[in-house]
Amino acid sequence: MSEAGLASDAAAGEVLLETVEMQTGYGDLRVVRDASITVRRGEITVLLGRNGAGKTTTLRGITGLNKVTGGSLRYLGEDITGIPAAKRVRRGISYVQEGKRVFHDLTVEQNLLLGGFSTGVGKRALAGSVEEIYELFPILAEKRMLAAASMSGGQQQMLAIGQALMAKPQLLILDEPSQGLAPGIVKEVMQRVHALKQTGIGILLVEQIVQDSVAISDRVAILEMGKTVLSKPASEVTVEAIQEAYFGSTA
Ligand SMILES: Nc1ncnc2c1ncn2[C@@H]1O[C@H](COP(=O)(O)OP(=O)(O)O)[C@@H](O)[C@H]1O
Ligand SMILES: [Mg+2]
Repeated sequence: MSEAGLASDAAAGEVLLETVEMQTGYGDLRVVRDASITVRRGEITVLLGRNGAGKTTTLRGITGLNKVTGGSLRYLGEDITGIPAAKRVRRGISYVQEGKRVFHDLTVEQNLLLGGFSTGVGKRALAGSVEEIYELFPILAEKRMLAAASMSGGQQQMLAIGQALMAKPQLLILDEPSQGLAPGIVKEVMQRVHALKQTGIGILLVEQIVQDSVAISDRVAILEMGKTVLSKPASEVTVEAIQEAYFGSTA
């Protein structure tokens, strides 16, 4: 596939990412024992679970920051278990880490440009990419020359997402973008994430906020103590059922 090709050219619904009983952790400590998650192009899969369930660790296995020690990890039909993290980025996996902070002293535009450097494309192409991000997030265009520090938490989260999009991902992974945001802002961030589906990428969204995240998602997976306890199309699960799976074992 052409590196420069737009993700939206490819067939919607194609499986981008599939983990089957994936295991990962830290050194000898196996935190994730069975992560079974599917993400399709043009769709959002939300991975829910309580604090400490292993969501972030799962993402670290997928992105190559932590070693996958069992099960399978497939991306675009290929086993990528042995591929280093930097190569996964180049293959189109972009990751916005939990509590991701942008560079406060740099302007919005400088932050975006930084996100595109790893792609190795020229200045002109980068400028074009920045304009695409501004179309997706008009607030970033408005504040392009201002220091990132001058923006609100929600706006900084959009900047972090914009920065990740500068790498032209096929698969965008977001770890709790709602973290630390007021409820009204959470809804706006979720709407922006939802709109990204139209660019033809697939999104793996990790959240603790159930209702707002499920509302924008196509698939729902729930992780409990390192195991996927539910994985279904969003249309087949009610928020009540999710909350039951989510809180059931704590009762
Ligand atoms: N760097 C680390 N070293 C060892 N254990 C860790 C590390 N980071 C997280 N853990 C452990 O892994 C488990 C899952 O953490 P995490 O994946 O961050 O959960 P979540 O993102 O669902 O809140 C927790 O029990 C946590 O203590
Ligand atoms: Mg986490």
